[in-house]
Amino acid sequence: MPSPTPMQPSVQGRKVLLIVSGGIAAYKAAYVGRSLALLGADVRVVMTRSATKFIGAQTFAGLTGNPVSTELFGGGPDVPHVELARGAELAIVAPATANLLAKMSAGIADDIASATLLTVRCPVLVAPAMHTEMWENPATRSNIETLVGRGVYVAGPTAGALSSGDEGQGRMVEPGEIVSEALGILGRSQELAGVRVLVTAGGTHEPIDPVRFIGNRSSGRMGVTIAAEAAGRGAKVTLVAGALSVPVPGGIEVIHAPTADEMRSAVVARSTESDVIVKAAAVADFKPEVVASSKIKKSSGPPEIRLVPTPDILRELGTDGSIRKAGSILVGFAAETEADPRGLAAYAQEKLTLKGADIIVANDVASSDSGFGVETNRAVIATAGGVRELGLVSKRDLARGLVDEIIRQRGSTPH
Ligand code: PMT
Repeated sequence: MPSPTPMQPSVQGRKVLLIVSGGIAAYKAAYVGRSLALLGADVRVVMTRSATKFIGAQTFAGLTGNPVSTELFGGGPDVPHVELARGAELAIVAPATANLLAKMSAGIADDIASATLLTVRCPVLVAPAMHTEMWENPATRSNIETLVGRGVYVAGPTAGALSSGDEGQGRMVEPGEIVSEALGILGRSQELAGVRVLVTAGGTHEPIDPVRFIGNRSSGRMGVTIAAEAAGRGAKVTLVAGALSVPVPGGIEVIHAPTADEMRSAVVARSTESDVIVKAAAVADFKPEVVASSKIKKSSGPPEIRLVPTPDILRELGTDGSIRKAGSILVGFAAETEADPRGLAAYAQEKLTLKGADIIVANDVASSDSGFGVETNRAVIATAGGVRELGLVSKRDLARGLVDEIIRQRGSTPH
């Protein structure tokens, strides 16, 4: 079992919830609880009724030194799931059955485990464990995708021996791996405490008439993932959102700004109080000069629509120092489609100077596995110090790398 290395921060007194659902791997959760308790964390265990068929609550009570919760109703005046959730700094679900993942995804709260998970405001780490067929079922795939989109961390599963003598994908990762991941999340969760982060996400819709608009294919996933990463590290995050087709995790303030003009107003209104501004939104560069007050009739023939430029919000923030907080960090994105032989790095460096940003993330939006809508991105991160090529990464990993860079520029080292 791991102990914290000199690089890992102490978890002494940190409040960790360990939520155990019913699967053969439930016995391994005892090692997770024991390790974290030995490292000094204040571990509170919650068990589903099915979990108690696999391992006794008394085992967890003995290993953690805390009472174990198995019932939604405590009999007293307190509401157990609210009391458990308040103040929790990390919730670990191990093993996470297909059933509990489905409840989490749907927001169902019909037992102590699901009710606590619906109430927590802290990062959540799940370690799925189930038979291969259940893991591969489209319902489970979709539930996992929903949870990842909301910022939930997922460890595993891995391939190996399952219950009933079966073998395959669906085995819970080993307790040591869960503990390492938990230590990492706890370490990072305070890095941006007290820092105000403003993120823009999604595409703007520039109206042509009451029913039509000029838009783009941004889903908002990139910006929302960055917002979730910053919130997971303790920042107070505001998301200025254009059109989004992904859910926003709880705890993030959302301001709707459907057009480039509205987005500019929302960003500028908050720019003097923001320590970090990340412009991941796909803002239209042009809008119709005139918006028709009623639906343009097909019978009138194809309309001529004259376009005029929208405000370049990033450039304004980067070049007019008076509208930003002194010492704040400005991050811009660059969406590139042309195969420039100089590569993304050259675009990124060009935009860094042109827009007056501290960091530019240039991403390829022409490939099917990168840019708009998808879960992965091919990107580089450019700063005054040089360019870091990330290659093809998940948007979660890109967000993590970007937030690490922001923390470095703020003058502290990320964990
Ligand atoms: O939302 P997803 O589906 O996850 O897709 C993610 C993404 C591809 C939209 C995202 O990664 C991305 O590249 N966002 C920026 C898209 C864009 O508008 O790029 P650009 O090269 O046109 O603009 C450069 C920068 O200027 C961007 O930071 C943009 O927010 C900003 N800008 C652009 C125009 C404008 N009028 N005002 C701006 O502030």
